[in-house]
Amino acid sequence: MVETGLGRKSVLVTGGASNIGRAIVFALAREDANIVFADIDEEQAQRTLKDATKQGKGRISFQAADVTKDEDVTALVERTMAEHGRLDVLVNNVGWDRPSAFARQSTMHWRRLIEINLVSTILCTQAALPRLIDAGGGAIVSVSSDASFGEPRETVYGAAKAGVNTMKAIAKEYGRHGIRCNVVAPGLILPTAAEEIGTNSLWVGRDAFFSDDQVEKARKMIPLGKVGRADDIANAVLFFASPGMAGHISGQVLSVSGGYATPG
Ligand SMILES: NC(=O)c1ccc[n+]([C@@H]2O[C@H](COP(=O)([O-])OP(=O)(O)OC[C@H]3O[C@@H](n4cnc5c(N)ncnc54)[C@H](O)[C@@H]3O)[C@@H](O)[C@H]2O)c1
Repeated sequence: MVETGLGRKSVLVTGGASNIGRAIVFALAREDANIVFADIDEEQAQRTLKDATKQGKGRISFQAADVTKDEDVTALVERTMAEHGRLDVLVNNVGWDRPSAFARQSTMHWRRLIEINLVSTILCTQAALPRLIDAGGGAIVSVSSDASFGEPRETVYGAAKAGVNTMKAIAKEYGRHGIRCNVVAPGLILPTAAEEIGTNSLWVGRDAFFSDDQVEKARKMIPLGKVGRADDIANAVLFFASPGMAGHISGQVLSVSGGYATPG
């Protein structure tokens, strides 16, 4: 059996409280990784922290941080170094979307999309990179979206996520330092229960995770005939994070969308 090699590694996950981020924290916890996860939703983060600590032997902590703010990101990386003395893996999971017609999106709205989806990834990657290099190499895994390949009503969100995809250039620029950089691009990933998401989740107010009708419509558009779940993305993130399984894989964008998006 191939070992993931993530046990006792120091991992930083952004947006770890809700839905996909929460599943990523749980998956890493089961591998006995030492985890610091960041979020702006402290209440949901405390619930996730409680559940995550039961799942493995690693040390897990939560840091309240807005990863669109330089000072919060600096403090977040410093906290990780203070707790674990090193950084081996960065997971850029934070993101936000509210699909709407491009022509009707206010400047405030589209600037927010770029801040939360792209600027946060740039800030965290820049802050973490020197620490990953100090550790002798490591992995950056970012979460983008199938909207990065072009989806209606998600034009600016998709542009920001395409920027996240393109940041895989880090793989070429820093490969000589042992840095791997990969991207997971989820398709539709629905939560299954209210406790899986926080009050700040992009799913709040969205027809209670879609009505049965909406799920059915979405399901029909997906070749595998089912909507994705948070664990589907966590598994792909875990794979890319793992030096044991993906030690020679870098600079890739992987669509996890049940066959909906087939880039390349
Ligand atoms: N769920 C989907 O269908 C889907 C599809 C494609 C891509 N994605 C991407 O996957 C990622 C996770 O999505 P999700 O469905 O779990 O969303 P979610 O909204 O449920 O979770 C995102 C978490 O990030 C936190 N967050 C938001 N802004 C933050 C900030 N500035 N600083 C710190 N934390 C912040 C939120 O509080 C929340 O806990 C996002 O990048 C999203 O764009 C999701």
